[in-house]
Amino acid sequence: MEKTKVGIIGLGTVGSGVAKILLDHGDRTARHAGRVLWLEKAAVRDLSKPRDCDLPDGVLTDSIDEVIDHPEIKVVAQLMGGIEPARSVMIRLLESGKDVVTANKALLAEHGPELFDKARELGRSIAFEASVAGGIPIIANLSQCLTSNQVTSLHGILNGTSNFILDKMHTEGAAYSDVVAEAQRLGYAEADPSMDVDGTDAAQKLAILCQLAFGARLNWRDIPRSGIDTVDLLDVNYAQEMGYKIKLLAIADLKEHGLDCEVNPALVRAGSPLGEVGGPFNAVLVKGDAVGPLFYHGQGAGQMPTASAVAADLIDTAVGRTAITFRTLGLWSDQVKGVDQADF
Ligand code: NAP
Ligand code: HSE
Repeated sequence: MEKTKVGIIGLGTVGSGVAKILLDHGDRTARHAGRVLWLEKAAVRDLSKPRDCDLPDGVLTDSIDEVIDHPEIKVVAQLMGGIEPARSVMIRLLESGKDVVTANKALLAEHGPELFDKARELGRSIAFEASVAGGIPIIANLSQCLTSNQVTSLHGILNGTSNFILDKMHTEGAAYSDVVAEAQRLGYAEADPSMDVDGTDAAQKLAILCQLAFGARLNWRDIPRSGIDTVDLLDVNYAQEMGYKIKLLAIADLKEHGLDCEVNPALVRAGSPLGEVGGPFNAVLVKGDAVGPLFYHGQGAGQMPTASAVAADLIDTAVGRTAITFRTLGLWSDQVKGVDQADF
């Protein structure tokens, strides 16, 4: 059977999960892609760190160049976090003729227009299903399945770490600081967990979803936001007594004047679909003018749910199915329609 050689840059929580799927479940990639996705190289910073996956000899390297310059690697999962060197590495990958899959929402929210322009100019693709809501296929749904609709609102729980922390405070009376450490240990939190708890990560994800849902090119910094870092057990107890749960909600509503967006801790009725989202799970409630309301629910942070989305993007890319996502995002840079961003 034909092979597509794949590279991974970054073998932490998510990268190790992707390696496990490629190495242990080649049958799945063969079934869906009609070819084997072959893990050729995986680049990390520190070769001496223990890894959460068993790699064949010769795969692990501490040289990113070995992935970028590899003539037979066609698709790369770029799974290091942060902005630099992730941005430069992404550009070099595209320039060396590789299609890229990424989970790095911070990078896309900050430099999406530049990166998608570069990919378009070079005839390459960037797939990013894992960048928002982990294992929930919300990017594919907004950019492919719901394109016949005008989305009118999108409300979500988009940060798994915050939801995990709030859930533990509600159900176990756990102290905020103890649960932050647990979320880090379980691999849910960002390398800098302040981005999870201060609303930054949710705002970055909301900006990406607003591009797809409303064609709105937003600077995530312009989204009014606050996080759960000021919520304490007293707030949680009062909310509970009144029949509510506190949830970090990311909201975008299409109004006459444009798009209203915000990220804030909010009171959500216990027993409602959003109120029942527990642990590191995410949920997205989308309303489309034709389809009506849709509710998506699944694990939004963590190794295998996120790896599931990355690996599916690798398969799609290997068989050339990322074109729709790529074309939609082409709008990012030049032809935004429908929403007056000046009114945001
Ligand atoms: P992580 O566990 O910190 O792993 C990052 C990996 O990148 C590590 O293997 C690290 O190498 C490698 N790396 C960093 N800088 C490097 C450099 N200069 N050269 C080579 N390798 C480098 O992070 P993660 O949790 O897997 O997250 C990866 C990305 O996915 C981030 O953008 C994150 O926001 C996103 N994401 C994460 C989740 C989640 O649940 N964790 C979910 C969705 C999206 P070493 O191991 O040698 O240090
Ligand atoms: N730190 C992120 C979260 C990872 O907790 O939601 C998933 O993007």
